[in-house]
Amino acid sequence: MASQNSSATFGRFIAIEGGEGCGKSTQIKQIASRLAKHGIDAIITREPGGTDNAEAIRELLLSGGDSRWDSRAEALLFAAARGDHVRNLIKPALMRGQWVLCDRFLESSRAYQSGGSGLSDAMILQLHDIGSEGFLPDRVLILDLDEERANSRVSQRDGEARDRIGGRPKEFHCAVRAAFKHYAQQECERIKLINAAADIDAVTDTIMDNLQDMIDA
Ligand SMILES: Nc1ncnc2c1ncn2[C@@H]1O[C@H](COP(=O)(O)OP(=O)(O)OP(=O)(O)O)[C@@H](O)[C@H]1O
Ligand SMILES: [Mg+2]
Repeated sequence: MASQNSSATFGRFIAIEGGEGCGKSTQIKQIASRLAKHGIDAIITREPGGTDNAEAIRELLLSGGDSRWDSRAEALLFAAARGDHVRNLIKPALMRGQWVLCDRFLESSRAYQSGGSGLSDAMILQLHDIGSEGFLPDRVLILDLDEERANSRVSQRDGEARDRIGGRPKEFHCAVRAAFKHYAQQECERIKLINAAADIDAVTDTIMDNLQDMIDA
């Protein structure tokens, strides 16, 4: 279930999603400062991570060789980290009336851990039910960018360094992009596909258009 915060006393939970280098971390800061202009107090967090326990799991997930974890162990670790994050950071902040902007959430697990890995989308959703009681963002913004442009942005930022998941082959990242697009088609009210190829401020403008109904509510 979505956080379903109909009362203005509760915050809203927004997930920023998309592949490597599409601009999630850049946009999340832009969104927080635009929301502040509307008098909305938003906190920024990320997955895997956000709490001490989940950051410890992040280190396990992102370091080491690609074969360090098999797909089942990897999916379980993500679900465990997310459960801790939801219980100890996201829900308390929403209850205090803050908006929560989360850099990656469930749709990243669906796109990266199912498909080619041998796990089904239903399995990932089942793990989310167990780990986080099925808790969902009020809105998911998927930043969509072609693999070549995304890779060139990452290279400009990091040189040739990639983490354990970012270093997977081009075909993997293209499949991830297709999966993200599919989720936006399946749930077009809650999950929005944003063209991330434009310049930074233009992308933020599109994102804010897609949040306007919640800002006005
Ligand atoms: N709209 C844009 N146009 C051009 N460059 C951009 C744009 N958005 C972000 N960048 C640059 O591209 C690089 C990647 O952006 P960013 O780190 O925000 O992506 P990310 O999605 O958070 O990446 P990661 O998945 O690795 O965390 C950064 O150097 C950033 O300054
Ligand atoms: Mg980032």
